[in-house]
Amino acid sequence: MDKGAACSLALGLTAAALYGGWRLLRAPALPDGESQPPIADGVTGLIGNTRLVRINSLSAATGCEILAKAEFLNPGGSSKDRIALHVVEQAERSGGLAPGACLFEGTSGSTGISLAMVARARGYACHIVMPSDVAVEKSQLLERLGATVERVPPRPIVDPGHYVNVARARALAHSQGFFVDQFETPLNFDAHWRSTAPEIWRQTGGRLHAFVHGAGTGGTLAAVTCFLKRQNPEVRCFLADPQGSGLANRVNHGVLFADTEREGTRRRHQVDSLVEGVGLNRLTRNFARLLQGGGPRGASSLLDGAVSVSDADALSMSRWLVANDGLFVGCSAAVNCVAALSIARHLGPGHTIVTVLADSGHRHLTKFWSDEAMAALGYSVKVPDSLDHFAQLSLTGE
Ligand SMILES: Cc1ncc(COP(=O)(O)O)c(C=O)c1O
Repeated sequence: MDKGAACSLALGLTAAALYGGWRLLRAPALPDGESQPPIADGVTGLIGNTRLVRINSLSAATGCEILAKAEFLNPGGSSKDRIALHVVEQAERSGGLAPGACLFEGTSGSTGISLAMVARARGYACHIVMPSDVAVEKSQLLERLGATVERVPPRPIVDPGHYVNVARARALAHSQGFFVDQFETPLNFDAHWRSTAPEIWRQTGGRLHAFVHGAGTGGTLAAVTCFLKRQNPEVRCFLADPQGSGLANRVNHGVLFADTEREGTRRRHQVDSLVEGVGLNRLTRNFARLLQGGGPRGASSLLDGAVSVSDADALSMSRWLVANDGLFVGCSAAVNCVAALSIARHLGPGHTIVTVLADSGHRHLTKFWSDEAMAALGYSVKVPDSLDHFAQLSLTGE
């Protein structure tokens, strides 16, 4: 290369570098400060990196920052997209999924919808087994996404007819069946450990005082709690638990419930609540990650306490949020917000509390969001006049 050519090449490179720098300076701020590619690589590229939203009405009333991870913005409509993608990617890596494979899962809905979406995007079949009492729009959505759906009567977990046991049996019987096993697989915890938890830490700049979330499998709560406590042991982490679930008792008092009432021995089964997605009367491996190390009377050593939320309060909160904030959320999100309000009042003004809006109200139009269905069960669906409607709940366990 002659001198002139070398000189114009150097000038060209300098101009390109300056232009690149100028473009970078002018680039709009990305939602979470992380560089995200402007074009998502297929639908799975849209999963995660959801924003935190300030819940203005609750924040103003308490003098706290009440922030929520807007998980309903995931392409499959819930936080479960994260675990669906992670489980499928890990299985592909380890050779557990080949073309023609079929994913099987027992789910009350959200995980199935996320799996059906990821399965479609990656070329697998998907078969979902769900309890027959969950909102019908979830199975309609699953079918539109190409999954086959089996609705089975609710049964205790010790019964082979429980939806999780049916899904496992179907996977075993299929020549290329893959049982996802969201309740027990460590990949559930891993998915949130790698994505949800560091996102919360980064998005708050590490400036948060408390985190609160319900437990369906326990994957989100366990991973976020373990992660936050490792970053800063002073962050207080709480379980938000719907009525009928035994987990709050386990956290606060060390026992799920009297031995005579454990799941499998009672006539009734599952969790006696309107709320879908959270609440359990058994310990899953994912939830048990929170309990290692003992604690007072065998209670959790990692959680700082649990807040029990009644169905009536969850319903009122959902109506409050849409009337005051324009946030149309599902039932587990409403439970989380009642608990976040309670924690904010307990901690006092000046604190930052983070929670999660796992899905939107669209998933619950025929049940939790149907005023007629709720009135038929004897529940008032009026928007509360003020937040005084929500009594200060006791935060035992702290
Ligand atoms: C709508 C909804 N919210 C919250 C949860 C709870 O999340 P996790 O399973 O991580 O405990 C679930 C779980 O199924 C859910 O479906």
